[in-house]
Amino acid sequence: MFPQHVIARKRDGQALSRDEITAFVRGATDGSWEDYQLTAMLMAIFLRGMNAEETAHYADAMMRSGVVADLSDVPGIKVDKHSTGGVGDKISIPLAPMVVACGVPVPMISGRGLGHSGGTLDKLEAIPGFRTDLSLSAYHAQVAKIGCALIGQTKDLAPADKKLYALRDVTATVECIPLICGSILSKKLAEGIDALVLDVKFGRGAFMKTRAEARQLAEALVRVGQAGGKQVRALLTAMEQPLGRAVGNALEVAESVACLKGAGPADVMEVTYALGSHMLILGGVARDEADARQRLERVVTNGTALAKFREIVIAQGGDPRVVDDPRHLPQAKFQVPLPAPRAGVVGDVDAMGVALAALRLGAGRAKASDAVDPAVGISTLVKIGERVKAGDSLAVIHANNATALADAQGMLAQAIVVGDTMPDPVPLIAETLV
Ligand code: URA
Repeated sequence: MFPQHVIARKRDGQALSRDEITAFVRGATDGSWEDYQLTAMLMAIFLRGMNAEETAHYADAMMRSGVVADLSDVPGIKVDKHSTGGVGDKISIPLAPMVVACGVPVPMISGRGLGHSGGTLDKLEAIPGFRTDLSLSAYHAQVAKIGCALIGQTKDLAPADKKLYALRDVTATVECIPLICGSILSKKLAEGIDALVLDVKFGRGAFMKTRAEARQLAEALVRVGQAGGKQVRALLTAMEQPLGRAVGNALEVAESVACLKGAGPADVMEVTYALGSHMLILGGVARDEADARQRLERVVTNGTALAKFREIVIAQGGDPRVVDDPRHLPQAKFQVPLPAPRAGVVGDVDAMGVALAALRLGAGRAKASDAVDPAVGISTLVKIGERVKAGDSLAVIHANNATALADAQGMLAQAIVVGDTMPDPVPLIAETLV
């Protein structure tokens, strides 16, 4: 099977067979396809698309390009959550311990931030000593022992995705639903889970800008995940303003700990409880959303969710004192409030503007090889609809460098609009696909 013949068939709009898709994916890992052939194929798929059957074969071939974890000896229905990424999206950190504390094992393999959205791994690594580079056998042992491991993608897991994602990133072929579906699901299906809850975000701070695009992606992810033998549900959630009041790695860990103590921002609690409810239902420990919500609230109130987080932090080498006192997290040299220019109502907090300010401070990475500064970012950010007086703090900027601080002040002042009219409320959770 010559690569150029397979590429030509997709170029001409034909559906590829399972064998052709397998040959392409294998070509990404064994070198039998050159990079220029892989990228020609990616562009052909980008332009011509793939039908549901092709997408399912693609996700399956990508999953099989590496090791597939087998957690069948761990009792219970194993459930994970995946978010398509947003600004201030730290939900995995409070969510996983809450769900485990309710009796559902959560094996979670997460990514690093790239571009404007932060990654769970970068946030967790802000905890001094916390290791996310566990081997698959250590991951397996930890899930068996304490019900949860929060780790990064190992080199053995879906290696074809690693190769193809890097090529997509530099050939303008990222924003393509079948390719995104194959990429996300190959990694999730290889984790050894039985069920998956997806948080597909839409809006200025998300990958998918409109609700219609997000729905299309969510439908494809649910269909392909189910074809892969997993129970899958998806929530569509808004990402116009940042989630919560903190953006930046250590600052988001502190906010996550507050959530585990029941004192997190209302929007973070709402999305965490909504995703957690579906995880408990799929995990077989809750009858319905009301029952699940009660169980989640109970483990927060009685402290078992926080205790589970402490257990995970200790198991992965982190400093458990951060659970009691966020001052044990890295602190930035400058912590400067941004004053409101006038009295009024917060009419807008542009998630993308806030993300770019955080990126300028060093909280994120513009390219995969950049290092992140765990201490910097933005905290106590106002939310749309809040009233402020002139001079009130709109946010506190945490910086380690005076020039970056000055730039971020300007960027944030543009991103936060104070006006006279109360904006219409936008529902945070727009739809649920089951
Ligand atoms: N996240 C992934 O893991 N893959 C994509 O293709 C897009 C987002």
